[in-house]
Amino acid sequence: MKRHKTYIGVRLIAALMLLALFLVACNTEPKKVEEDKDDLIVVGFSQVGSESSWRVANSESMKAAFSESNGYELIFEDAKQKQDEQYKAIRTFIQQKVDYIVLAPITETGWDDVLQEAKDAGIPVIIVDRQVAVADDSLYTAWVGSNFLAEGEQAMDWLEKELWALRRNEEQINILHIQGTLGATSQLMRTKGLEIEVATHDNWSIVKTLEGEYTEAKAYELTKEYIEEIGPENFDVDVIYSENDNMTFGVMRALDEYEIAYGRDGGVILISFDAVHSALEECLEGKINLCVECNPLHGPRVAELIEALELDKHIPKWSYVEEAYFATDTLTPTIVNNRQY
Ligand code: AHR
Repeated sequence: MKRHKTYIGVRLIAALMLLALFLVACNTEPKKVEEDKDDLIVVGFSQVGSESSWRVANSESMKAAFSESNGYELIFEDAKQKQDEQYKAIRTFIQQKVDYIVLAPITETGWDDVLQEAKDAGIPVIIVDRQVAVADDSLYTAWVGSNFLAEGEQAMDWLEKELWALRRNEEQINILHIQGTLGATSQLMRTKGLEIEVATHDNWSIVKTLEGEYTEAKAYELTKEYIEEIGPENFDVDVIYSENDNMTFGVMRALDEYEIAYGRDGGVILISFDAVHSALEECLEGKINLCVECNPLHGPRVAELIEALELDKHIPKWSYVEEAYFATDTLTPTIVNNRQY
């Protein structure tokens, strides 16, 4: 009996000690987080929106790179595809005295004033993805993104070879062009890549250009309208050049509704940009003929630039990301399965 009492006593003391330790921990924990927060590098990121799978992957990459555990506090602002919202976000970042501003600009123009304000406030600006066309390049510290013109040229080089392989190089080739957000570098340069090549082929022509705004819904709606307008029986399109995967999905839905064939096994040749996982799956299945890669994983790239700036190291003004393209007859399941976005 006595032994039992002693045992209970020991257990009680141990429990009280644990409780005391727990209370001490509870008291000190918030203070520690507060102290650590002062050491974080504060980054304000103005994102275009969430119009595409590419964009969603890009936002995730930025959020993962600028996490607290990596030493950052990220203020993320989604502009919902509106430049005015981006102006507002940047001006708020300036008021908040962030350490860095990261901007994914919706279009190239219209940035001089707001970037001048950031410069006057002494806040370095890093541009990511699309570019800005400003009179004074010193308004931003660096840019990182894709070579969108090279993407367009790669697509058209592939098309030329494909038409030769199909013995269709002498045929009249009608191209339906689905454009992304007008004035965005990715739109301007992919369009330029297409137009340059069309101009050098007498038998290639762009029969119609639709403004798909990089969304599946808009591309679906406009493709349907176009098919209705000319009549499905008159749909004489050989190639659809769609400036991102989500618009390609919209195009495919519209073609399916009118039972218009497309892809590797005959019908319309589909060329798409981004090469996100779901598009590569369609490419592997033979529905999309060509997926040109546009890599959205810019978070670590921007973080690397900021880390170099923190150490007063020189950073390049422009950094281009290396990219590939995937054609339906050479794409492998391993490539698709390894796709991170
Ligand atoms: O600027 C990059 C483009 O923007 C991607 O191709 C598209 O999917 C995104 O919305």
